[in-house]
Amino acid sequence: MTHLVVYYSRTGNNRTIANQIAKALSADIDEIIDKKNRQGRLNWLLAGKDSRSGKLTEIEYKKNPQDYDTVIIGAPIWAWNPIPPLRTYLKEVNLNGKRVAFFICSKSEAYKDMFGRLAEMTPDSEHVGSFGIQEEQFKNEDYSADLEAFIEKIK
Ligand SMILES: Cc1cc2nc3c(=O)[nH]c(=O)nc-3n(C[C@H](O)[C@H](O)[C@H](O)COP(=O)(O)O)c2cc1C
Repeated sequence: MTHLVVYYSRTGNNRTIANQIAKALSADIDEIIDKKNRQGRLNWLLAGKDSRSGKLTEIEYKKNPQDYDTVIIGAPIWAWNPIPPLRTYLKEVNLNGKRVAFFICSKSEAYKDMFGRLAEMTPDSEHVGSFGIQEEQFKNEDYSADLEAFIEKIK
């Protein structure tokens, strides 16, 4: 079974989790780069606006998920919505028939509602697991047991 971990991360939280998952699974890892600058206060506001209005963006990534059995995809939430680089990725790649899992580190518990929406955006994939965590727990608590349970499911 081959695994690809794909992630977008603006401030590093989801990158850290992506690295942990990839290490545990000896998986390949790929970063989604948003070609739109998302740093700085004005761009922060625009990122929220773009996300709320369901906008797409221009992205770059290196690996083709078609080459893997299981694709594990992680990203934050912006303005209670799937972020533009993730929306764009899910539109651009073909995940039909693939085993797919999602992970999210977000500020609030907003990730709880997000997994259903992401599953709806990938209707022809087999959804094999999800892992969500609030930033506060991610930074201050030991979440390794929950992460290991997720990894067991997607092995
Ligand atoms: C523009 C913007 C909007 C955000 N909106 C939400 C939100 O609606 N709900 C939430 O829980 N977190 C929200 N966040 C917080 C991020 O999801 C959170 O900081 C996450 O851990 C960032 O992950 P990263 O370090 O991988 O980029 C928002 C962050 C940004 C930049």
